Amino acid sequence: MDLSNARIAIVGLGYVGLPLAVEFGKQRPVLGFDINTDRIAELKAGRDSTLEVEPEQLRKAGQLVFSSNAADLRACQVFIVTVPTPVDKANRPDLTPLVKASQSVGAALKPGDVVIYESTVYPGATEEICVPELEKSSGLWFSTSNSGFQGCMPKTSPSRPVNLCVHRPIWMRHEPRLHAGHQRALRAHAHGTC
Ligand SMILES: NC(=O)c1ccc[n+]([C@@H]2O[C@H](COP(=O)([O-])OP(=O)(O)OC[C@H]3O[C@@H](n4cnc5c(N)ncnc54)[C@H](O)[C@@H]3O)[C@@H](O)[C@H]2O)c1
Repeated sequence: MDLSNARIAIVGLGYVGLPLAVEFGKQRPVLGFDINTDRIAELKAGRDSTLEVEPEQLRKAGQLVFSSNAADLRACQVFIVTVPTPVDKANRPDLTPLVKASQSVGAALKPGDVVIYESTVYPGATEEICVPELEKSSGLWFSTSNSGFQGCMPKTSPSRPVNLCVHRPIWMRHEPRLHAGHQRALRAHAHGTC
């Protein structure tokens, strides 16, 4: 599996997504996608109202472009989902943003693409909630088999909370992370490049 030239999309540009997009954007083409058009407008103007990222760091991310147009996701091959997963008063998780983000990503998926969920979810949510949305929106189907990457049948390659480690910057390398991947090739890739 060669992800070295893959274009990355970060879906959800909040506290988690924006710093990730900026660090990747210093080294490779990245699309920062958010449904909040005001958020996109301020980031395009070089400002982060959450003060998570300094204007200078935003400037240094020369390969990062921003969009609120879901059609722009089609040019990407790796999708990192960093949308919120709030809980209600009864502490039940509201997975609406995750479902909607999965639908946007699903509509952009091509065979062999990789989907990474960084949003906090309960065990099983990726397979039971997210993967069916990806399949429905893409018309592709998910396989845990590595042969999925070579077969002629259309297949997607979503992963569970795997953190893509390609070009991972220093501060991310020092942060312990739990990786899980549905395919052997993807797991090897994540572990091998950390
Ligand atoms: N994996 C990790 O290491 C890690 C660490 C901390 C937090 N988290 C999790 O990451 C997730 C994001 O947290 P945060 O603090 O960055 O959230 P946030 O509220 O700061 O930002 C979320 C962003 O997602 C956008 N968004 C919402 N729905 C969207 C959609 N359908 N498509 C595109 N964009 C959408 C919002 O407009 C917002 O800008 C949470 O689930 C959090 O628990 C993960």
